Amino acid sequence: MRIAINTGGGDAPGLNAVVRAVVLAAEGRGWDVVGIERGYDGLFAPGGVVELDRKIVSGITHMGGTILGTSNRGSPFAFPVERDDGSVEIVDRSDEVVERMSELGIDCLIAVGGDGSLRIARELASKGLKVVGVPKTIDNDLNATAVTFGFHTAVQTATDAIDKLHSTAESHQRVMVVELMGRHAGWIALFAGFGATADVILIPEIPYDLAKVAEKIDARWKAGREFAIIVVAEGALPVGGEASYLEEERAGSPRRLGGAGKRVSKGLEALTGKETRSLVLGHLQRGGQPIAYDRVLSLRFGTAAVEFADRGLFGCLVALDPPDMRAVPLADAVERLKAVPADGDMVRAARAMGISFGD
Ligand code: F6P
Repeated sequence: MRIAINTGGGDAPGLNAVVRAVVLAAEGRGWDVVGIERGYDGLFAPGGVVELDRKIVSGITHMGGTILGTSNRGSPFAFPVERDDGSVEIVDRSDEVVERMSELGIDCLIAVGGDGSLRIARELASKGLKVVGVPKTIDNDLNATAVTFGFHTAVQTATDAIDKLHSTAESHQRVMVVELMGRHAGWIALFAGFGATADVILIPEIPYDLAKVAEKIDARWKAGREFAIIVVAEGALPVGGEASYLEEERAGSPRRLGGAGKRVSKGLEALTGKETRSLVLGHLQRGGQPIAYDRVLSLRFGTAAVEFADRGLFGCLVALDPPDMRAVPLADAVERLKAVPADGDMVRAARAMGISFGD
């Protein structure tokens, strides 16, 4: 067998561990592995497909980012091509992907990505490409798997950051609002806010009423706890309102979320009269070394992907179904996103600890 691997969408801690695991597990079977650089872009660029071996992937398990590069702009089905006049045209290059793979003698593609990349993988599978998907995203919003790799490292980074905000909040008697990533799912905000003892956690799954958040802050002041930590998922939205988006648009890219924390911060300052500061943790959540949990998970996902290819389980995602890995058809895997259950155990536990969800 000659297999290819690519990494698509936003980078996440653990990508390199998956790449290494795939290469070692494939070599162990006497197979060849190539890496496609920057998602699928490498297929269209000279030198964009590289041979991978044990030596090249040596010592990368602990490294953040991806040695293959990635792209979350466009897809082979909607590929942005810049014209001479500076305009951008969106073209379908998916047939070229299938042709290039066959020219390169590739029997199977291991596509490591989040929901966008796995949708592309599913469409390519329907064009006859043999694909095995691996679930990556710090957002943890893939329904098919118990957890995605990268999520727990992002939660650790966000937890450390919130821990550090406590001292300034308390010393200055301030309300500190921190916006965390997660797209339209509140997993990072919920886990980090819970673990770092936030006072309020606002997530997309539970639209908030700012007046309720202000009540919680006032109650803390009255109780002599004159500071507050408010964790806001970037996709959080007020009751009857919409999520906050950045104004600028990029051709071939989905609308980008942004401004949720600032909106909450401004509103709270007006309602409570208390000094309120906001910050956006941003891409720090995607960077750095994967924590041990994510390394182990990534290595398991990578080796399982090769095992699935060996067993002919194509058109599937390697999903964690504890304690095992399970093959989930890609079509089912991307059918719907995994939202935080608004009445689930974690939310109930947080409420029991006195954390407000602004509802
Ligand atoms: O999906 C991962 C993620 O980091 C989201 O949490 C976030 O909304 C998005 O990617 C940001 O993407 P970009 O790096 O293109 O701004």
